[in-house]
Amino acid sequence: MKIIIASSEEIAKSASRQYVELLKEKPNAVLGFATGSTPLPLYAELVSLCKEGKLSFKDVTTFNLDEYVGLEPTHDQSYRYFMNTNLFDLVDVDKSRTHVPSGIDTSDEALAQYDKDIALAGGLDMQLLGIGCNGHIGFNEPGTPLESLTHVVELTQNTREVNSRLFNDIGEVPTHAATMGIKTVMNARKIILIATGASKAQAMFDTIKGPVSSACPASVLQLHPDVTVYMDKDAAALL
Ligand code: F6R
Repeated sequence: MKIIIASSEEIAKSASRQYVELLKEKPNAVLGFATGSTPLPLYAELVSLCKEGKLSFKDVTTFNLDEYVGLEPTHDQSYRYFMNTNLFDLVDVDKSRTHVPSGIDTSDEALAQYDKDIALAGGLDMQLLGIGCNGHIGFNEPGTPLESLTHVVELTQNTREVNSRLFNDIGEVPTHAATMGIKTVMNARKIILIATGASKAQAMFDTIKGPVSSACPASVLQLHPDVTVYMDKDAAALL
């Protein structure tokens, strides 16, 4: 694991350079994206670089980590909507090659097809991750088998409470999500994990210093050969 401790602005700049390098080498790379508050500064930086002509997404294929079950892609809290408004509509990506798990068709076939589509596209070249306060990656909550592929999970009360900040009240937060599995994530050739804020400090300690265990799903990243972890000072406070 390569560990970088920096300010949120520096993290966005440094991580964006990984996209510039990868896309220079492989313009048609397959990129795995995440939602949530953490990647927003990075997405803003990627948008700027694209506007300045220093980066192009025109030949990439993308797969997002997860989606709330029951939310239509047009719902303003759906992760498809988040990606469109924070990245896809602002860069030169071909939207027909952007994928977000369906929150509506969560049949076994549709979930299995998501992994098949990733494989058909050539596999993920680089997967971006945030981390939950409980160590979740994607929506793989503690206890998720490390061998899991794309599946539906029941969100923990803690995750629903944390994410309720974006809804009118907790009753509106979906109870389930479709998410890439831990194995799907681990199959990516390169992984970037970003953690900012004191609420992530314990999870980052467990991820880096704890045992590899499904109790902290992100700890499995210790077994991946190419992970870059970016943390701000607050997220790194217990290390
Ligand atoms: C988002 C995702 C989640 C978030 C995590 C942190 O697609 O899969 O694992 O990365 O919940 O969320 P924020 O960044 O809002 O703290």
